[in-house]
Amino acid sequence: MKIIAHRGNKRYTPENTMAAFQSACQYPIDGIEFDLQITKDGIPIVIHDEKIDRTTNGKGFVRTFTFREIRKFDAGSWFNKSFQGEKIPSFEEVILWSKGKNITLHIELKHQKGRNNQFLHTFLEMVEDYKMIESVVISSFNHSYITYLKELNSSLSTAFITKTPIFGAIKYASKIKADAIHIRNSYQAMRFYRTWMSKGLPVRAYNVHRIKDAMKCHRLNIDSIITNDPKKMTEIFRHL
Ligand code: G3P
Ligand code: CA
Repeated sequence: MKIIAHRGNKRYTPENTMAAFQSACQYPIDGIEFDLQITKDGIPIVIHDEKIDRTTNGKGFVRTFTFREIRKFDAGSWFNKSFQGEKIPSFEEVILWSKGKNITLHIELKHQKGRNNQFLHTFLEMVEDYKMIESVVISSFNHSYITYLKELNSSLSTAFITKTPIFGAIKYASKIKADAIHIRNSYQAMRFYRTWMSKGLPVRAYNVHRIKDAMKCHRLNIDSIITNDPKKMTEIFRHL
């Protein structure tokens, strides 16, 4: 079972920062997950919410700031004073840092209202220019993003995200050109993992933070868990 660090080492560090990614990589993880959006001037950056309020010392919508402006905010001290000075990373920064690290970048493309084309083309261009196709998995709640990117580059590894199990998941994945399903872990969802996996649809469950849930996923032969606690999960599952 692969272990993917959700927004970096989210439990112990400020999410979606270089500190969070570096910290996650102390452990024998398989990948990191992070969220991507673009600034007003079209630079892909790593942040989860559509506003900067929760995870920086600033206020406002991500889309209203240029890259230069957004870099002035502190993305660490809201979590703990010791992380003061952390910035919102650019996608490019994460790519360069990840080179040679043998981890997969699980990139969640957040919906960018009214700027889909700019977002997806800028993103793909960067992945191609930096020769990252083999090292990334693209996922989104916006399933049209998956189809669009896969049609532009069929070598991209893609996944659709869903909060709950969907009817006919295998056929649906093939229709929208997704190679895998990312699903919020729940008792309801767990009933489907074995079937999906056996039919060739890799399952990566997110929100797996408790050992007992991870154990169940492991027994169901799941492909990956996406967890806030890579330390605890690698300690346990690297020995199984
Ligand atoms: O990997 C899926 C998961 O990250 C989706 O939920 O809200 O954490 O972006 P969220
Ligand atoms: Ca995410």
